[in-house]
Amino acid sequence: MGAVHSDTHGELQCQKHLFSLPPGVIYLNCASRSPMLRSVEEIGHQAVSLKKHPWRISDNGIPDKVRAQFAELIGVKAAEVALTPSTSYAISQVAHNILKLGRIEAGDVVIILQNQMSSNVYAWQRLCRESSAKLVAIRGDDSGWDEALERCIRQESSAGQRVAVCAVPHFLWTDGSGPVDFARLRKVLDELSPTKRSCLVVDATQSLGVVPIAVKSAGIDWLACSVHKWLFGPYGMSLVYAAEEWSSNPMTEPIVQDEHNRLGADGDICLPFEMSPVGYSEDFQDGAKKFDAGGRLNPILLPMVSRALQQVLDWTPERISSRLTQLTFLDQRWWQSDTNLGKTEDIVGFLWEYSYKAGI
Ligand SMILES: Cc1ncc(COP(=O)(O)O)c(C=O)c1O
Repeated sequence: MGAVHSDTHGELQCQKHLFSLPPGVIYLNCASRSPMLRSVEEIGHQAVSLKKHPWRISDNGIPDKVRAQFAELIGVKAAEVALTPSTSYAISQVAHNILKLGRIEAGDVVIILQNQMSSNVYAWQRLCRESSAKLVAIRGDDSGWDEALERCIRQESSAGQRVAVCAVPHFLWTDGSGPVDFARLRKVLDELSPTKRSCLVVDATQSLGVVPIAVKSAGIDWLACSVHKWLFGPYGMSLVYAAEEWSSNPMTEPIVQDEHNRLGADGDICLPFEMSPVGYSEDFQDGAKKFDAGGRLNPILLPMVSRALQQVLDWTPERISSRLTQLTFLDQRWWQSDTNLGKTEDIVGFLWEYSYKAGI
């Protein structure tokens, strides 16, 4: 098995031995999908085989371990982490609750970035349709996302419109532009909507794991991150941060009605059917567990995600970032991009035209 705990201090050395890449292959596209770690593959095989003997499947504490690992990575509490199957699911759930709580009204504005990934766009298109709000896409220009975002929020405010939601990535998936400065964004949002808090929603899938992120200090309300990129997980899971304000509000709810996120339905426990009132207890689990997706938490994916997260925690985003910065500097002669929107030195942005030309 790959040495998961082997390299936790000092400058990160080459980690190729932890992967199964054939000799001669240099894989650059983790921002699309990362290669699987040997250790994650191995634990995945074990987890698949477990159902040969279904009586061996149990609540082994892995879901809560994943919550704790993700919480450690982004500096929040484990009780603020929910487990969902996709970022689009997570964002749809956020939009559902914003509408349910009346946190958006007719004439309000939802801000996204031009070309933003669809999983963080469709739910906002629908929310705006349902609430008669306006969806605004910030155009990328030479001033960078932070300037463009602030300008837009101020313009909408001077026109008498409140920004109810700002739903953005940390880095744009199409060209790696960013990072978006969430602390600055939060400050402007709070200044212009002091009495009714604007909701800051982040899809961190493109960079979480390789670029550190300050969730609490930036006042992010919700964050979702699919695990198949820089978190080195398999497909089929998005980890979600939900600020306590959202989980503790008795009006918020999961988007799917299910037993597993109900109080007392831990592990294999089934709640008793009641005759008065007819049905099952409707109380939710405490904290962000309330926003866990319906259905049994996946006993194949979760051990894989946990192993992958442990590796990222051992490497640390700071060390990955520093190592990649050296490598991408080395080979800067390769990279081309037609945008000046910030960037970080550890993520290389290509437009497809250029990746194609470079044969990547
Ligand atoms: C920026 C970004 N967010 C999210 C996702 C995944 O979204 P979902 O989990 O809804 O498929 C992707 C693609 O894999 C992506 O590039």
